[in-house]
Amino acid sequence: QAALPAGYTARALRLSDYDAGFLDCLRVLTTVGEISKEAFTERYNWMAKNDSYYLLVIEDSSSEKPVIVGTGALIVERKFIHSLGLVGHIEDIAVAKDQQGKKLGLRLIQALDFVAEKVGCYKTILDCSEANEGFYVKCGFRRAGLEMAHYY
Ligand code: ACO
Repeated sequence: QAALPAGYTARALRLSDYDAGFLDCLRVLTTVGEISKEAFTERYNWMAKNDSYYLLVIEDSSSEKPVIVGTGALIVERKFIHSLGLVGHIEDIAVAKDQQGKKLGLRLIQALDFVAEKVGCYKTILDCSEANEGFYVKCGFRRAGLEMAHYY
């Protein structure tokens, strides 16, 4: 694992990250909605007691008030096939607009990939737009299959 720039730390998501701009960081990815601290806490606690969710953040501690500048998730799916195989799903990768291009995205993917391999996943997959394909290729992924969706 290569180092982050000075002043940045990668760690697991904490409840207190609600007040450190975690949801604002996710807004670079898509619509987040207005989420109360109570609702955030409930979802966080649900994920925390489920041992399949790994939510990582990158914190910029160089200013007085630490700010979340990057986040990403790994969800470990348990299967019957491939002898009870495990598959990693990388989801919701976001780096704050003014922090992009500093390899924070790459470090997030490397860290999530490391966890996936360590817990025994035989592969990790993700969905992305054509515009992000080059980023994931640089992270060691390759195009495989085709995404289908059914929205409700
Ligand atoms: N296309 C091609 N190459 C790219 C792209 C891109 N869209 N973005 C970054 N790269 C390259 C960089 O130039 C760099 O290459 P280098 O090693 O030759 O210098 C390498 O990929 C690593 O780039 P990082 O600096 O780590 O990228 P960054 O920290 O900016 O994060 C990310 C990339 C996550 C896509 C960021 O731009 C972002 O948050 N975008 C908005 C939200 C988003 O689209 N998230 C991904 C959704 S898909 C999913 O979540 C599964």
